[in-house]
Amino acid sequence: MANLPNYLYIVASIFFIYGLKMLGKAHSARKGNMISAIGMLIAVVATLIMAELDIKWILVGAIIGSAIGAAAARLVKMTSMPEMVGLFNGFGGLASLLVGWAEYHRIATGGPSSLFTLVAIGATVLIGGITFSGSMIAYAKLAEKISGKPVLFKGQQLVNGALLLAAVAACVVLCLNPTSMYAAFIGMVVVSMVLGVLVTIPIGGADMPVVIALLNSYSGLAACAAGFVIMNNVLIVAGSLVGASGIILTSIMCRAMNRSLANVMFAGVGATAAGGKTFTGEAKTVSATDAYLMLEAASSVVFVPGYGMAVAQAQHVVKELGDLLEENGCEVSYCVHPVAGRMPGHMNVLLAEADVPYEQLVEPGDVNPTITNVDVAVVIGANDVVNPSAREEGTALYGMPIIDVDNARVCIVLKRSLKAGFAGVENPLFFAPNTRMLLGDAKASITSVVGEFKG
Ligand code: TAP
Repeated sequence: MANLPNYLYIVASIFFIYGLKMLGKAHSARKGNMISAIGMLIAVVATLIMAELDIKWILVGAIIGSAIGAAAARLVKMTSMPEMVGLFNGFGGLASLLVGWAEYHRIATGGPSSLFTLVAIGATVLIGGITFSGSMIAYAKLAEKISGKPVLFKGQQLVNGALLLAAVAACVVLCLNPTSMYAAFIGMVVVSMVLGVLVTIPIGGADMPVVIALLNSYSGLAACAAGFVIMNNVLIVAGSLVGASGIILTSIMCRAMNRSLANVMFAGVGATAAGGKTFTGEAKTVSATDAYLMLEAASSVVFVPGYGMAVAQAQHVVKELGDLLEENGCEVSYCVHPVAGRMPGHMNVLLAEADVPYEQLVEPGDVNPTITNVDVAVVIGANDVVNPSAREEGTALYGMPIIDVDNARVCIVLKRSLKAGFAGVENPLFFAPNTRMLLGDAKASITSVVGEFKG
């Protein structure tokens, strides 16, 4: 019976690993989320059994937190989900920092301590603080509360290096003198928060996916370090799983941008200008009826969703149009770029919500080599991920592999204007000879095309 919590921890860890595996595929992701949540519930119950605490305050916190979580899940618009995920990462880091702080307070007020615990507290505070303030900056950029452009200043790397050294020095001071150095601890908290801001502001524009994945990983590492502070096995396991999967996601995002992590972190691409030319040619606009005629005659169509599909909430009508095209004998696929939208897997979530069959999802690497054989590429609110300027040196998108819709026989672009996308780089695709612009809200435009099909 004494070992019951540890057995429950093993069961919870199996649920986490199994849930994480299911999250890797769109069709099983919902179940994976549920299984991971059940694992977390088991872990929490096991901890309460083990701790033998007066759980009054824990229950109050759990009720308030659950109420806020449930309300946020219902009220926050789907388009604001990326910001919310950014906030979640930040609060994860803050929670770990507070665990480290509580444990340090216990030590500073005469509780037993060891060098191992003090080093673990230092790591928790440093990583937790960076995660919290860094995520707040990412949140503000995604919610457009501050400019999304990278912010660079002279000697930035030196300042960051000096702050990191100062945090390590404060940790050393604490290890040497744990009880009478509260000021060093507070200094470490402040320095880690400032560092979080300074390492996040130089990253912006099209590189945001990388920083979001990295902060997600940091929140896991902070939890893992907090697990070592209080020697809680399931926190160590859960933290390492989040940390490791975040690193894998970071590497996927770097690959999607064709950039190294160092280049994303330190180069400040797009800090001064988004680059790219200004295009003054005439874009050819079409009506929903024209688009219908082109689609009706097509034998292969590739849909390319982007952030605008999320804004318009057009996923259900897109699926309806896809079904009508299939009934018409057309081969239909959906090509998702890894950085499309504003959060990892954003488009996959929306398409899964609309019940788009998993087999119809294709990757840019599968589509690009044969895209010249595609009759119509339909771009639904995507911009940066189809911007041919990414092939041109000197633009903020340079080097990012795009979906080559400009090489399809015809490309229909659905958006409201000719404005640039998230990275601020003008898009020559809109002026290409084989491009037709169907201007307006994507949902309204596709609904009209569906109406033509039905009519
Ligand atoms: P974006 O480049 O952001 O372009 C989206 C386009 O959607 C806009 O140009 C906008 O044009 C259009 N739009 C907005 N509302 C619309 C509506 N109701 N109906 C039709 N169109 C609408 O999108 P993308 O191609 O998906 O690229 C994503 C960008 O975000 C990349 O630069 C990526 O690096 C960055 N980013 C990604 C993430 C993650 S993790 N995926 C996180 C942060 C940043 P109009 O205003 O003219 O309609």
